Amino acid sequence: MAISTLPHNHLYLQALRGETVSRPPVWMMRQAGRFLPEFRALRDRYDFFTRCQTPELAAEITMMPIRRFPLDAAILFSDILVVPQAMGMDFEMRDGVGPWLEHPVRSASRVSEIEIPVVEESLGYVAKAIDHTLELLENRIPLIGFAGSPWTILCYCVEGKGSKSFDLAKKFCFTESDAAHQLLQKITDTTISYLKMKARHGVSAVQIFDSWGGMLSPEDYQEFSWKYIQQIILALQEIVPVVVFGKGCWYALPKMATSGAAAVGVDWTVSPEFARQSVGKEVCLQGNFDPARLHSRPEDIQKMVQEMIRRFGKDRYIVNLGHGILPNIPVENAEAFVQAVVEWEE
Ligand code: CP3
Repeated sequence: MAISTLPHNHLYLQALRGETVSRPPVWMMRQAGRFLPEFRALRDRYDFFTRCQTPELAAEITMMPIRRFPLDAAILFSDILVVPQAMGMDFEMRDGVGPWLEHPVRSASRVSEIEIPVVEESLGYVAKAIDHTLELLENRIPLIGFAGSPWTILCYCVEGKGSKSFDLAKKFCFTESDAAHQLLQKITDTTISYLKMKARHGVSAVQIFDSWGGMLSPEDYQEFSWKYIQQIILALQEIVPVVVFGKGCWYALPKMATSGAAAVGVDWTVSPEFARQSVGKEVCLQGNFDPARLHSRPEDIQKMVQEMIRRFGKDRYIVNLGHGILPNIPVENAEAFVQAVVEWEE
């Protein structure tokens, strides 16, 4: 079921289109997550991927931050790893470890066995979660869909778990590059049909998370990450606005700006001025409050947010963090962050 009418509060979509706004919109990466006590309460009852796979639960978790804070967009609760799961890689979420794949993909023969799934079947639960969420949202604010970048997904498939540097993933790309490209293309094809399905079910925008793009040199980024992200943007841009976020990818900002993406997300290591200079005047920027800065006192957070908006400018700008919210952030500090934007006046 696709809902085509504009949400009542569509500041987020206005910013993506470059329209003049009364104030910039705000949402927080990973807002539907561990920093919320009601999310942690559910954790004892259902394991992580059960929550992703049960549409009612996913919709309920998506709504948790919306019920607490005056956010301008919701992001569907799910995970980037549901895509490789649908491709036959049995990811688990282990306590104290994080994502875990018992048999990581480290050979050309393993890559050649991977099949591109029919997403309506293997990821139909995500489509149902979108339907449920849109009912709960009652057209108040837009819903954002997302996927990991093919490179970031490859990192987990090859490494089998999180890592500080993803050396094994890089080694695979540099020593088995044909197989790596084959895997990246299979992930890309799956991601394109997955995001098209999300758009058909009524998400207002999709965000690509390239969380580990910054592990690569600029040349390798082009070869192993950007080439594939660009394919996804080209396939989606006429259907739904695409936001591209790469952590540590400051060197790629100019090409992100001319890729067809509606907005470019930046992390906190770049200044607003550098970001704007890199992407030009037209493209919308999103970011980039240091997630650890949410440990500051609420009154200091408010001042820093005001300063951040002054430097980015109110138009063509979406207030966000520079990466996902940390699990140990006090709820009242997150609230101060959102409230500072809602109360912002020129
Ligand atoms: O707002 C939202 O939370 C939306 C849903 C969302 C999740 N993961 C839920 C989640 C989104 C957008 C993601 C994206 C995601 N997942 C990324 C890209 C963004 C980023 O932050 O870099 C990545 C790399 C993943 C893979 C993944 N999933 C990791 C590294 C982890 C953390 C593991 C750990 O324990 O530290 C997860 C688990 C995860 N995904 C949680 C949530 C709410 C925490 C689950 C829990 O502890 O119960």
